[in-house]
Amino acid sequence: MAAVVAREVRSDAERVARRVELHSGIVFRPEASAFEIVLRDRLALGSWPGVADYATYLESPADEPELRQLVELLVVTETSLFRQPAQLEVLRTSVLPDLHRTLPGGETLRIWSAATASGEEAYSIAAVALATLEGARRVEVLGTDISRQALARARRAVYQERVVSNVPADYFEWAFHLAGRSVEPSAVVRSLVRLAQHNLARNPWLPPDPAGGHFHVIFCRNVLMYFAPTTVSRVVAGLAEQLLPGGLLFTGFAETLLDEALGKAALELVQLPGTFAYRRVERTSRPQPRAVAAAPSMVEPSGSSDRPSVAALLEQSRAMAASEGLGAALQLARQAARGYPTSLDAKVLLGVLASRAGLDKQARLAFEQATWLNPLEPLGWVYLGALLREAGETHRAAKVYSTAATLLGRLPPDQLVGEYAAGQLARMCRQQAEEL
Ligand SMILES: C[S@@+](CC[C@H](N)C(=O)[O-])C[C@H]1O[C@@H](n2cnc3c(N)ncnc32)[C@H](O)[C@@H]1O
Repeated sequence: MAAVVAREVRSDAERVARRVELHSGIVFRPEASAFEIVLRDRLALGSWPGVADYATYLESPADEPELRQLVELLVVTETSLFRQPAQLEVLRTSVLPDLHRTLPGGETLRIWSAATASGEEAYSIAAVALATLEGARRVEVLGTDISRQALARARRAVYQERVVSNVPADYFEWAFHLAGRSVEPSAVVRSLVRLAQHNLARNPWLPPDPAGGHFHVIFCRNVLMYFAPTTVSRVVAGLAEQLLPGGLLFTGFAETLLDEALGKAALELVQLPGTFAYRRVERTSRPQPRAVAAAPSMVEPSGSSDRPSVAALLEQSRAMAASEGLGAALQLARQAARGYPTSLDAKVLLGVLASRAGLDKQARLAFEQATWLNPLEPLGWVYLGALLREAGETHRAAKVYSTAATLLGRLPPDQLVGEYAAGQLARMCRQQAEEL
């Protein structure tokens, strides 16, 4: 009986998750702890007797404000100034100078930071554009996000000092002002940025800027990874529509697109120094050969049914680490991470083993990818914090530990996370964040 009830409750939670996905594109596993906690908090308000009533309410036409509030509580708005600096470096050294050289004199250069969160991305792009073009051309940066709360923070644009760790020193004073323990974009940087609410998953897909026309560059980073493959294809096709021919789309490092999505969207993958982007090809042109033949995909390859499951590979790898040696275990963890690129457990195990083998760079990449894959799962953050602390990157380590502590604080204290109880691990992370 208990199992039947549990199954029913779970299917109502699935209805809620489905409603969230229909509205925002974001896929949640109803059993994910963060989802459960947010759901429990909403029910604790007392307006709905149970999950079924809540799901029914969300499915009714009156749902909009509650649905928006629920999505506000679920979205991850983690970001920083000059995140993924290689992309900004390419913008500075080649993309913007090339555009400036080839565009007609009076044309405004237009860049869209889609899913900009609290605006750090949009202000970083504006600062780079100013540093590169030095006023020789008008530049507009449009920053949009589904979250009204994140946009309110973007409008305020007063950030904690720790988001600046990637900002090159020569941007201080003129582009970003440090004031006590906070940092703010200067008036000139702000003047390039316009902010607006926009839902990438809205159906049908609408441009954010009906008056404005197309963009030369679009940044849409660290949001596609929350969407289902079909949503990614639809969103990417919409983004490509908004790009001028030859325009570039930058995604997050963990967000390489499948050939199918590229073909539909008339985009081609291009390799750039230290990074990659997707270029809008002319509508009339035939599909170009891919610059890179086999890009890793955001979805797990379908593969044959007899290939080993990720759980089996990881178990074997753990067993090897305990017996036959680290090298073989690491090899297997790499194989699991490559074969199942969306498996968080594979990334975490790869990170742990690489770190044990002294391969800090590889370990760091694996933990970072774990946090990108599912920013609501605390374990990747905990390991990343430890690695950053070891590397002496205290600002970032503190920030990462405090994210881990927040996520762990939402779990029941005795729930096991790795080998520790969530409460114990949360205390440890909080302490580390304060000490650093
Ligand atoms: C992890 S942040 C990424 C911020 C920034 N682009 C970066 O890479 O640092 C993800 C952002 O995507 C936004 N988001 C999620 N679903 C969205 C949607 N359907 N449309 C627009 N923004 C969305 C969230 O509100 C959040 O601010």
